[in-house]
Amino acid sequence: MFPPHLSRLLLALVSAFVVLAALAVPPAQAAEPTLGELAAAKGRYFGSATDNPELTDAPYVAILGSEFNSITPGNSLKWEATEPQRGQFTFAKGDEVVALGQRNGQMVRGHTLVWHSQLPDWVSNGGFPAAELRSILRNHVTTVASHYKGKVAHWDVVNEPFNEDGTFRDSVFYRTLGESYIADALRAARAADPGAKLYINDYNTDGLGAKSDGMYNLVKSLKAQGVPIDGVGFQGHLALQYGFPNRMQENLQRFADLGVDVAITELDIRMILPADATKLATQATWYSDVTKACLAVSRCVGITVWDYTDKYSWIPGVFPGEGAALPYDENLRPKPAYAALRTALGGKPGDPTSCKVAYKVASQWNTGFTGSVTITNTGSGAINGWNLKFSFPGDQKVTHGWNAGWAQSGAAVTATNASWNGTLAAGASTTIGFNGSYTGTNTAPGAFTLNDQNCTAG
Ligand code: XIL
Repeated sequence: MFPPHLSRLLLALVSAFVVLAALAVPPAQAAEPTLGELAAAKGRYFGSATDNPELTDAPYVAILGSEFNSITPGNSLKWEATEPQRGQFTFAKGDEVVALGQRNGQMVRGHTLVWHSQLPDWVSNGGFPAAELRSILRNHVTTVASHYKGKVAHWDVVNEPFNEDGTFRDSVFYRTLGESYIADALRAARAADPGAKLYINDYNTDGLGAKSDGMYNLVKSLKAQGVPIDGVGFQGHLALQYGFPNRMQENLQRFADLGVDVAITELDIRMILPADATKLATQATWYSDVTKACLAVSRCVGITVWDYTDKYSWIPGVFPGEGAALPYDENLRPKPAYAALRTALGGKPGDPTSCKVAYKVASQWNTGFTGSVTITNTGSGAINGWNLKFSFPGDQKVTHGWNAGWAQSGAAVTATNASWNGTLAAGASTTIGFNGSYTGTNTAPGAFTLNDQNCTAG
């Protein structure tokens, strides 16, 4: 029919069309991979701490189970929880979290066997002579690690052994036993559960510095003595106001080069409250940078956030005036940090802009106008309580508002939900309004945040 060269051309055109047509068909809505799945694709885990009282919060538990592939009991494996009286062990709370992790198919990090804090009084003020304290320590480590044998993959055997200058912290263990308590604890843990990876964990060791030098020298010496040590945990309790850790990747790498795994074990990035869009953007960059540092070090096996939502963060209770440290806000909605984590782990950002704001001037006269603002929840979860913030470009002033609590300071306006429109289901909208004054040109504001997250305008 056609000369051969024309048939070939036709065939090429037809196949090009088929390919284009296939591309034009949108793929079936596959769920985006979770943080845990993205980390797993890189041979890592991405975990969260949790605590027993939170486990009655069903929406919280759902995200805890779906988004993370590792879990850490935030309190229930500490000495005060597991051996509150000498020789009387209580595992109910620890068991509850470990069982939840197992049901979710999550790797469990055990935190922590030996620590100066949340240590019952009978240990810290018992006045025990060295031999007796050593046997108390061994018995504690042995009993707890044996109870969780095969269930806890990584143990923070010793927590926070260092002072800021890299010398050993003056805990009851160090004071009574010297640094040998660390090797003792590690040996007892290895004997009790040979399959668990044994870690030493500390804070302010994330970057190069005197304290991480102290940890480095300890690990080197433990390795040289043949003491069982498999990993070093870097807590990662960071704060925007103190700057990013000094050369974090290089620091992780030098530990890895000693022949141990490394992990970020308690990541949170706090800020001085109130949070705002600028601070949350910087926080997002830091979450990304920590993740990139871990991914760049082949022995960095995973990252744990110290709980995943601001609803349950320990920060405001311990650092008054600080907070907003985690990748989900108090309403369990992902913050910019969540999108940054996803991107750093090689995924798509997800759905970080989850609000849309339409601002309209409904009517206007010489010196006044009526404004209407429609807020739409474009995210996949409900918003429970909101504040909308924007700034007027000119001298506009809200004189009277409705459907929200209105406040203005200089050009900055905050509208807080009324009692009846605080809950916005996924896809729901609410319209609020105000009368305002102005002189000159009444230019509309261009940027809006809802609960300090940027919204799409229009
Ligand atoms: C915190 C818990 O999150 C709080 O609930 C508790 O009141 C105090 O301890 N470094 C650690 C963790 O190793 O055990 C701490 O956890 C946070 C700092």
